[in-house]
Order: sequence, then structure tokens, then C-alpha cells
Amino acid sequence: MTIVLAAHDVFKIYEGQQQRTDVVALRGVNVELHAGEFVSVVGPSGSGKTTLISVLGGLIRPTAGTIFVRGTTITSLPTEKLVQFRREHLGFVFQISNLVPMLTLQENVMLPMKIAGKKNPKNRTLELLAAVGLKERRKHRPAQLSGGELQRAAVACALSNDPEILLGDEITGELDTTTAQEVMDFLKDLNQDQGLSMLVVTHNEQIATQADRKLRIMDGTVLTQRLKDAEEDELYEISGKGRITIPEELRQKVGFERLVKYQVSPEGDHLLLYPSSVQTPVAIAAEPVIKTEKTCPACSRTVPKQVVFCIHCGNKFS
Ligand SMILES: Nc1ncnc2c1ncn2[C@@H]1O[C@H](COP(=O)(O)OP(=O)(O)OP(=O)(O)O)[C@@H](O)[C@H]1O
Ligand SMILES: [Mg+2]
Repeated sequence: MTIVLAAHDVFKIYEGQQQRTDVVALRGVNVELHAGEFVSVVGPSGSGKTTLISVLGGLIRPTAGTIFVRGTTITSLPTEKLVQFRREHLGFVFQISNLVPMLTLQENVMLPMKIAGKKNPKNRTLELLAAVGLKERRKHRPAQLSGGELQRAAVACALSNDPEILLGDEITGELDTTTAQEVMDFLKDLNQDQGLSMLVVTHNEQIATQADRKLRIMDGTVLTQRLKDAEEDELYEISGKGRITIPEELRQKVGFERLVKYQVSPEGDHLLLYPSSVQTPVAIAAEPVIKTEKTCPACSRTVPKQVVFCIHCGNKFS
């Protein structure tokens, strides 16, 4: 499967000014997005989600690491080329609307097409505005729209240049459940019919679980990947740093309702987990973790045998 976007060992440090300390917002993130894939990103406030989306889309530069978009190393592009590259390949929808206040909705949606020199942008504009339910409001300015309408307008703007990749930050954050689902259905149709690749930050669990893959980010690190439709008690959360995250439901199943520290030791092709307060190993119903290894055909690095995605390069195993 073609990889359309990849981040390798990306760090972002916001340097503290006037005696404020530095903030390490991303610490060695590896992410890959395949063509036509819909990936959601979840995580607590401050975990680095907006930073990740901004760095992946070339809106801010990482402190270290490399980002590839459709084979181009965007981290090496000079600013002017980067701006042009973004315009041609990427669409963004952000938490804070980036509509131009003086322009009408129609003019806002048309603007990126005009900048890109597209001919006859009006039809496409009306099509997009109809798709997000805002055709009737096309003569209104952003200040005359509700939060939800602004959000939908931002989606229309992001799609105006037919991007191959859509990067979204709380696309549906301001919307009620029904409208949020409508906007997502529209995006999912584009994803399925036209192969739009999407990486979308969301706090909405209902939306996150509709994705092909859900990335959980914590303290600037991608902690786990969870596949859609995975069995409830199947352990499939993988850390790129070799960290094992045991889902809360599973911990509750074996009687650990609070945070417990485990000792880990190999036993056959399993790892046995010992809660630090208990001397005998605990049999965990679902096979917990895998010790045996295999080689990723994409990056040739070693990964645990049963992982579905390579923990180094994100390659999906068939
Ligand atoms: N421009 C900046 N300068 C300094 N620190 C920043 C800057 N932007 C973000 N941060 C810090 O980096 C960390 C990650 O921020 P980020 O905005 O990526 O989090 P987030 O996961 O998107 O949070 P939220 O869910 O609240 O939107 C936070 O600790 C934040 O305070
Ligand atoms: Mg954010």
C-alpha cells in the first residue's frame, strides 16, 4: 500500500522565552498514513495533537526528524516551495477557523482555487458549499455564521483544491452530534469514493472509532494504535517505544482496577506480567503480549510477531 505521509522520529520543542522552560511537545513520533486511509488521533489536552498535525502538514517545522509527503521530504523544502507544496497536496481544517473575515463564504472557498490559478472555480465552490449544507449562506461573512457553520465552511475551504490528504484538528469540535456525523459522512464518502487520505484529531470517541486506525498520543508520543472492529478483549495496542499499554477493560477483567506496575518476564512465546505486589504470575485471559519476532518487509526491522502494523515504519502486515 502506498504511504502518502510519513513522520520519522519527529521532535518538536517549543523554546521557552523570558525564563520560561522549553516544552517538548513531540518526542520521537513515528506515524504513517497510507493512501485512502482514515486515521484518527486522540489524546488528552496538551498531549501534542495540534502540534503533530501542524508539523505533519508543514505548517511548523519540527526541531528534529523527517517528514515525507508523497515521496517529497517536506522538512528539507525551502519555505516558498513548502507553501506551494501544501497548497497542491494538503487540505487543513483547524480548531480555530482560518476564514478571511472580510470575504463572503463563497469568496473564502474560492480563494485557494484562485491562488492556485484554477479556472472556473465557481461551480466547484457551489458544489462544496451544498455538500456541507451552506449553499444558502454563501453571501454571508464569517462573523455572520454560527460556530458549527464556520466549521463546515472550513471543511469546504480545505477541500477546494482537491487535496490528496486532509489534515484535521477537531473538525467537528463545534458541531452537535447529528451535524458532526453529517460532516464526517461527507468526508468518509470522499475517503471511500475518491481515496482522500485523512488524519484527523478528535475528542469525539464516536468519530475516532470510525477510522481505519486510531492513534493515541500521550505526552508527545504515539502510545498505541488501535484497529477498527478489533475484538474487545484482543490486545492490539502497540507502542513504538516498546511500551505495552493494557486497555483498562482488560485490567478490570483480571481484577486490577487501579494503575498497577508490572514486572515482565518471558515464558515460551508469551510475556508473563507480574503485578509488583503479587509474587505469582497472573494469567491474563487474552494473550497479552508477543515475544517472538518477525521482520518488516518494508523497513527490514524486527517487530513482535503478531503486530498488525510495523512499530517502526507503520507498514501494514497482510
Ligand atoms: N507555540 C507554542 N509555544 C510554546 N508551547 C506550546 C506552543 N504550542 C503548544 N505548546 C505546548 O505544547 C504542548 C502540546 O500542545 P498542543 O497544542 O499540540 O496540544 P493538543 O494535544 O492539541 O491539546 P488540545 O487537546 O488542548 O488542543 C502543550 O504543553 C502546549 O502548552
Ligand atoms: Mg489542539
